[in-house]
Amino acid sequence: MDRKVNILVTGGAGFIGANFVHYIYKQRPDWQITVLDCLTYAGNLANLDGLNESRVKFVKGNICDGETVARLVKECYYVVHFAAESHVDNSVHSPWPFVQTNIVGTYQILEAVRKYNKRLHHISTDEVYGDLELNESRKFNEETPYNPSSPYSATKAGSDHLVYAWIRSFGVQATLSNCSNNYGPYQHVEKLIPRQITEILEGRRPKLYGEGKNVRDWIHAEDHSSGVLAILEKGKNGETYLIGADGERSNREVIELILKNMGKDTTDFDHVADRPGHDMRYAIDSTKIRGELGWTPKYTDFEQGLKDTIAWYKNNEAWWKPQKAITEAKYLEIGR
Ligand code: NAD
Ligand code: DAU
Repeated sequence: MDRKVNILVTGGAGFIGANFVHYIYKQRPDWQITVLDCLTYAGNLANLDGLNESRVKFVKGNICDGETVARLVKECYYVVHFAAESHVDNSVHSPWPFVQTNIVGTYQILEAVRKYNKRLHHISTDEVYGDLELNESRKFNEETPYNPSSPYSATKAGSDHLVYAWIRSFGVQATLSNCSNNYGPYQHVEKLIPRQITEILEGRRPKLYGEGKNVRDWIHAEDHSSGVLAILEKGKNGETYLIGADGERSNREVIELILKNMGKDTTDFDHVADRPGHDMRYAIDSTKIRGELGWTPKYTDFEQGLKDTIAWYKNNEAWWKPQKAITEAKYLEIGR
């Protein structure tokens, strides 16, 4: 591989962005990595600990700031765009930052890659497709029509549409991926799995929204990273790839598995108020990326991946503790 590759990773101090930076650091030792992140509540510089500064440069900046974005895009070879407001509950409570970052921020990235003719990979989500019924055999694939439910997924859908328009109208070189629910190290304690693990570690009971029948299709963040790298290097310009690891589980099953693996009774959780507009089920058909790019996930045993994740949170209390009380105070405000 070209020794001059410099990859710009937006949102690289967040959960999946940081996992991707660690992955690239190991898998592509000749690449230089620049992280652009404004460090919202979800960003944490400690997520990049252990990476040598001679290879990884951190720039604190906002993707809505066109000048900063243009300056960094000009210097790089690839742009991988993870930066986003990512939490559905926050978007229902307070949509404005989602419109700003997910739509205006993506616009600035697109204008810069257009100006400097750089290759972009845009990170999207399966939530843009809306939801599926519990018992239908259908899964999401690259042809599924967009039908977002929440302000979060609507702004992600908006950002995808901008990318498609810039590809078609301006010939921007870009690929997109829509991945399912990620888990693994560095995930913020607001999200389902880390929230429940840390509730148990603090001596409280997990909190299940509604009846807990909703299904998510879990994938380890490292498998998401390997999928993105495969698309970056082998994907066809202008194409979209869905990334998923056949990890469908109901929220109730996930909470029961966490309780079991933390030595608790599996009934030891509470039902709390449901999320408004709560999507019922997501499921990914990943035939295209597997067939065309030869990608396969490594973490196919969800329970083992969950055990590793529980161990990570047990061993990294100093990482999550400062966010925990603030996060639970926010949940208290919205009654969940
Ligand atoms: P996250 O909330 O953990 O991290 C987002 C990062 O972006 C943070 O470091 C934050 O500081 C940064 N950021 C936010 N606004 C910014 C701005 N205006 N300028 C610069 N930086 C900004 O999110 P995540 O879960 O790691 O998700 C990353 C991406 O992956 C998002 O685009 C999300 O839509 C997508 N995605 C997430 C999942 C999932 O399960 N978490 C699944 C599929 C796709
Ligand atoms: O599908 C991909 C998406 O997955 C990403 O695009 C989003 O950025 C990411 O946040 C995630 O969205 P979800 O809304 O599915 O994830 P979350 O972890 O917030 O919730 C997962 C499920 O668990 C959802 O059905 C709501 C439920 N839940 C969540 C929390 C925080 C609970 O039952 N209890 C909880 O305490």
